[in-house]
Amino acid sequence: MITESMAVFGLGRWGLTLAQALLDAGLPLVAVSSKRPRAKQELPDRLWPLWTGDTQRLVERARWIFLTVRDDAIELTARRLASLRTDWTGYTFVHSSGAHGRELLEALHRRGAQTGVFHPLNAFPDPLRHPTKVTGTPFGIIADADLQSDLFELAEKLGGRPFAIPAALRSAYHLVAVLVANAPLVLISLGRELLRRSGLEPDVRWEYYAVLLQSALSHATDPEPILYLTGPWTRRDRTTVRQHRDALQGLYPEAVPLYEQLVALAQSLYLAATGQPMGGEI
Ligand SMILES: NC(=O)c1ccc[n+]([C@@H]2O[C@H](COP(=O)([O-])OP(=O)(O)OC[C@H]3O[C@@H](n4cnc5c(N)ncnc54)[C@H](OP(=O)(O)O)[C@@H]3O)[C@@H](O)[C@H]2O)c1
Repeated sequence: MITESMAVFGLGRWGLTLAQALLDAGLPLVAVSSKRPRAKQELPDRLWPLWTGDTQRLVERARWIFLTVRDDAIELTARRLASLRTDWTGYTFVHSSGAHGRELLEALHRRGAQTGVFHPLNAFPDPLRHPTKVTGTPFGIIADADLQSDLFELAEKLGGRPFAIPAALRSAYHLVAVLVANAPLVLISLGRELLRRSGLEPDVRWEYYAVLLQSALSHATDPEPILYLTGPWTRRDRTTVRQHRDALQGLYPEAVPLYEQLVALAQSLYLAATGQPMGGEI
């Protein structure tokens, strides 16, 4: 039940965000902790009184423990915690990785704890300087029925939107999340670098291109965003596409294969969406 005492172990980007969101929502967060004692110095004032450097005390205080450590440290942390007691009945342990299931918490589950996954489908890159709001975050959840309904309630209490991740499709779920969260940033960074390398900057400012990005984003929730492509890719304009390839070859040759693959991908996604080829072959 989400009225039970809670603790956050792992005070990185998501751990800090979650701890503060729990407090904001009036939930009973009683302790925060981290492997690194120095993490205490970086805590926001309101979390200071909740700090404990002693894992034993953490588990004495709380019944719900969020393991918000790095993905590759979840299993080891769970095993270390599991070894503190022979019986974890009455405890709930939750991790927040979208890439892994409950198996990482098996050592605790075997000793009686309830376990689950509570994955925020959002990015929290810098909670101290540029905090991202948790409100509106979709939460992907994997848990047995009882805990699933508690985690749904928790997500709603945080102002989020809960949904169940089909456990067998977890890899595809996480693939889409990582692709959508990161690929646009790679393309944006490439665009900025091309502007610098070409010498267009400072006369042509990056902000001008941001208008195009906003237009693309405005179609993100359309059922078929590929229909909103514009420009030479959609017009059979081989000459312009060749000019782009040549310019890219001079400015950032490593990106030429990516450009060619994007053109090909645009074609195949368009075909899949409409059953028609997009402007023929380029
Ligand atoms: N940040 C996001 O946008 C986001 C979004 C969705 C899901 N998540 C999930 O949230 C979890 C935490 O990610 P994060 O982005 O917050 O990571 P992070 O900022 O890199 O923080 C990682 C945390 O893991 C701890 N840690 C690192 N190595 C450890 C070890 N060997 N043993 C114990 N603790 C260790 C660190 O402890 P110290 O403080 O002691 O250094 C730190 O508290 C991950 O499962 C991630 O997949 C994050």
